[in-house]
Amino acid sequence: MATQMHPRCDQAAAWGALQRRFASEGRSFDARHALRDDAGRVQRFSQQAPFVFADMSKNLIDAATEDLLLQLARDCGLEAQRDAMFRGDPINATEGRAVMHFLLRTPQGGEGPAQELAEVHRTLEPMLAYAESVRADSQITDVVNIGIGGSDLGPQMAVQALDSFVAPGRRFHFVSNVDGHELAGVLRGLKPRSTLFLIASKTFTTLETMTNARSARQWFQSQGGTDIARHFAALTTNVGAAADFGIERTFGFWDWVGGRYSLWSAIGLPIAIAVGAENFRALLAGAHAMDRHFRTEPLERNLPARMALLDLWYRNFHGFGSRSVAPYHSALRRLPAYLQQLEMESNGKRVDREGQVVPYGTSPVVWGEPGTNGQHAYFQMLHQGTDVIPVEFIAVKEPAHTLREHHPQLLANVLAQAQALMQGKADPGGHKHFPGNRPSTMLLLDRLEPQSLGALIALYEHRVFCAGALWGINSFDQWGVELGKVLARDIAPRLASGDTAGLDASTAMLIRRLAS
Ligand code: F6P
Repeated sequence: MATQMHPRCDQAAAWGALQRRFASEGRSFDARHALRDDAGRVQRFSQQAPFVFADMSKNLIDAATEDLLLQLARDCGLEAQRDAMFRGDPINATEGRAVMHFLLRTPQGGEGPAQELAEVHRTLEPMLAYAESVRADSQITDVVNIGIGGSDLGPQMAVQALDSFVAPGRRFHFVSNVDGHELAGVLRGLKPRSTLFLIASKTFTTLETMTNARSARQWFQSQGGTDIARHFAALTTNVGAAADFGIERTFGFWDWVGGRYSLWSAIGLPIAIAVGAENFRALLAGAHAMDRHFRTEPLERNLPARMALLDLWYRNFHGFGSRSVAPYHSALRRLPAYLQQLEMESNGKRVDREGQVVPYGTSPVVWGEPGTNGQHAYFQMLHQGTDVIPVEFIAVKEPAHTLREHHPQLLANVLAQAQALMQGKADPGGHKHFPGNRPSTMLLLDRLEPQSLGALIALYEHRVFCAGALWGINSFDQWGVELGKVLARDIAPRLASGDTAGLDASTAMLIRRLAS
């Protein structure tokens, strides 16, 4: 397997040089001094990529360190690993699958495995035509997406992010949790004749989604709904299971699309219904522009690669265990949740591609809330807590509303927070002391629109790919979610029967307390 030929980061020649660099200069690096003394710093550490400008100059890194990190990337064969993905090699070795979500946004005739690309477009066209037909159908006022994980977070995040492109008069609901509280709350306000259910599940076996889908079908029928063909559609790779469920209209995709990378596929149908075919194509085009950037730019001007190298520097040398994401646009409020799955399900791994335990940290904890809300909650800790937590700010130049007084305040706050984290403030009394030199990256978009959103998400996808490639792990499987699923299947009947035989004492006691 081509990818296994590449050394992990700790086996690369530059690793030792980076350790020495960290001990000599890295640990004590002060971004304030660097910004004051180095006239070229802002230019060196900013980067325009398609639709996204990044200012990385407030980070704890200098040119010599970045050069070593770039050398590390070369030692690890990052470019060769990237090319293997784009070629369609089965880089997801534990599942024997290629990883080709980029193909979902490749234009017809573009680069990539030709047969799969033709299938992508054969599927995209009817899906977009269907989306337009739903948009033209004034009887359908509510669209309910039933799915979880990648079959929920991506479309939900994107529909919210593009809310200013959604025609009024139609509501979008996202039901994911097996907790019936969620579905019941949504159904309460709906009528069968004006509701379209989209059952979104790559496998069409996921417990939460199947439970919600069955309950939705039962509600539909018990409320007098008869035309399942009109009111239910499935988005899945498991076309047979959707048919067995009684759904006639299915939009398919392929096993080479990972769940958390699937919003560009049929899983994106709610986005296409919300914003229309043209805007969905623009979302794909923005992502494709970022794909091209990632594929063709040299590493030193390659934004996903540079951000991943900084991630590695922070995680494996500074030892930072978490990163906070602060989108200063309230339509991006689900972006942190989306990124949690993208990053932590992809790179939350403890063994390398050979199954050997890695002696270094992998995915940090990714978390956050939109600004300015976060400022009035946990920013206290970011400024004065005992841990250094790199922050990623996302700011948008033009607002998507006409309330003129607000936007300058929002922008002033995002700039001030980044400045305050870095600058700090001396106070001999202690309580009002801000240590400063706390790193942040500022991502700027001109507008939050389909193209820029597509580019932003693709940037994150490729950054996750790069970090995983450097760490030598498989970013595209998710075995860690399996054990709990299996155990839940054993526990469910015990809650009804009260049988606790063979269980540990704690779980047995809890079952006795909860059993009906
Ligand atoms: O959490 C595990 C997982 O397999 C995710 O990777 C996936 O996005 C989610 O479950 C939902 O899976 P499916 O789309 O098959 O229902």
